[in-house]
Amino acid sequence: MIKVEPSIFAADFTKLGEEAKRCADAGADAIHFDIMDGHFVRNLSLSPKALAAINRSTDLFLDVHIMVYNPFEYIEKLVECGADQITFHLEATENIPETFEFIRKCGVKVGLALCPETSYSLIPKYLDKIDTLLLMTVNPGWGGQAFITDVLDKIRFARKTIDDLDLKGIDIQVDGGIDDKTAKLCVEAGANNLVAGTYLFKGDMKAKIQELRL
Ligand code: DX5
Ligand code: ZN
Repeated sequence: MIKVEPSIFAADFTKLGEEAKRCADAGADAIHFDIMDGHFVRNLSLSPKALAAINRSTDLFLDVHIMVYNPFEYIEKLVECGADQITFHLEATENIPETFEFIRKCGVKVGLALCPETSYSLIPKYLDKIDTLLLMTVNPGWGGQAFITDVLDKIRFARKTIDDLDLKGIDIQVDGGIDDKTAKLCVEAGANNLVAGTYLFKGDMKAKIQELRL
């Protein structure tokens, strides 16, 4: 089963509550919520307060992708504001095991993200600690960028390792430049969780989600 998560970063920020409801009505599996600190990526996005507002507008699972240095410092606040999963970047901290542990202790799911250039070889030792492996298909920080095809090899490799180790509960998520065409490539390579911003928020979201699941 392919899961689809609209990235709220592409929503109309003048009506976040309505946009969250739109995702639920369209049959989304979760809302993907980006947090950026202006340092790990040179952009800013939405705040924990906006996450709390979305949490009041919908019962959908809130999957929070944090593109920040020192992710540890943000976890408690995000959980308090409604995060159901927190995905942090491997490149952003030296304290990966401690960060996993703390996210778990706060009672939410754990995701680990990799930028397109980062080698998959660093991942296998962490697989038994995570619920989601996010393989970025653009350089993080902005919506509307072109999909980086090279990441497909990494997706294939991740799928093979996860299947070989019989860790089927782990989602392989892709984020960036996902549309009907790139989604198919990712699913063929082994991804089962598709994040899409620009593509889903333009036009008929329900029809597009169904198309992505095909
Ligand atoms: C980028 C964010 C994405 C972004 C995706 O750093 O992590 O979630 O919103 O946007 P699209 O789907 O437009 O590439
Ligand atoms: Zn994201």
